[in-house]
Amino acid sequence: MRRLVSETEVRPRQLVLPMFVKEGLAQPAEIGSMPGVLQHTRDSLRKAAVEAVQAGVGGIMLFGVPAERDAVGSGATDPDGILNAALADLRSELGDSTVLMSDCCLDEFTDHGHCGVLAADGTVDNDATLEVYGEMAVAQARAGAHVVGPSGMMDGQIAFIRNALDQAGLHDTGVLAYSAKYASAFYGPFRDAVESQLAGDRKTYQQDPANGREAIREVQLDLAEGADMVMVKPALLYLDVLRSVAEISDVPVAAYQISGEYAMIEAAAANGWIDRERSILESLTSIRRAGADIVLTYWAVEAARWLDR
Ligand code: PBG
Repeated sequence: MRRLVSETEVRPRQLVLPMFVKEGLAQPAEIGSMPGVLQHTRDSLRKAAVEAVQAGVGGIMLFGVPAERDAVGSGATDPDGILNAALADLRSELGDSTVLMSDCCLDEFTDHGHCGVLAADGTVDNDATLEVYGEMAVAQARAGAHVVGPSGMMDGQIAFIRNALDQAGLHDTGVLAYSAKYASAFYGPFRDAVESQLAGDRKTYQQDPANGREAIREVQLDLAEGADMVMVKPALLYLDVLRSVAEISDVPVAAYQISGEYAMIEAAAANGWIDRERSILESLTSIRRAGADIVLTYWAVEAARWLDR
């Protein structure tokens, strides 16, 4: 009876696996605060991506960890930079068997760790950053990304990137807008994963956790600017925001179950305090029930296997 009347389903095709690739790495490396998640070498990334596709995931979101960083994040726009090189590897390995997405943001590539370039006074320069995002999006699309994911929360980034892609003839590349991204404490483990250099915080560009209405405004702007999909991030602490975004969006809505959400469940399960598999599946079901069409989750492969049996 429960099976017959269940309202919400989670299917492997709705899950997107975020993956990390690190330049110059000899062996895949464990991320201490994200047990079970790896920084990949270019080689181990290919193999793990093939396994993810075999498990049926709908997409992969790739993040790069460069060996060297500078003030303007040069590695991000360099076609030989780690993220672009690894995107090319994956596209040639996977073709169109899954949706290949790339993080279109500077924080992994800058020596100050901010998502954009800085003005002389040390604040993030929104409009100068847009120029770099445009170049970065084109480099990622040329490398093989089907979809670029601007996660830097700069104003006007979706229109700017859409225009840069179109100018370069990359009309078929999609844009997944991280529209409502909150300045969250729960990104902590991710910052280990990408070896973030950030000293301060991102409060001048990411949203205040206190604000729900602001998320709707951010989504409406991104829709008007040409977003093909919009995202709410984090997921579990923002299910109310997700629900209201799902109600107004006329494009698919994604939610990112972030590193801190992953770490909390893994830690509690490792202590025997909660049942790991049930907790993971319950969390994914909740995110879907709140209105997400797509869920980015570090458990994508494992969950896809459970859901398929
Ligand atoms: C920024 C970015 C972040 C995450 C994805 N993209 C971190 C941040 O804003 O500091 C976090 C993802 C996670 O915590 O799993 N490019």
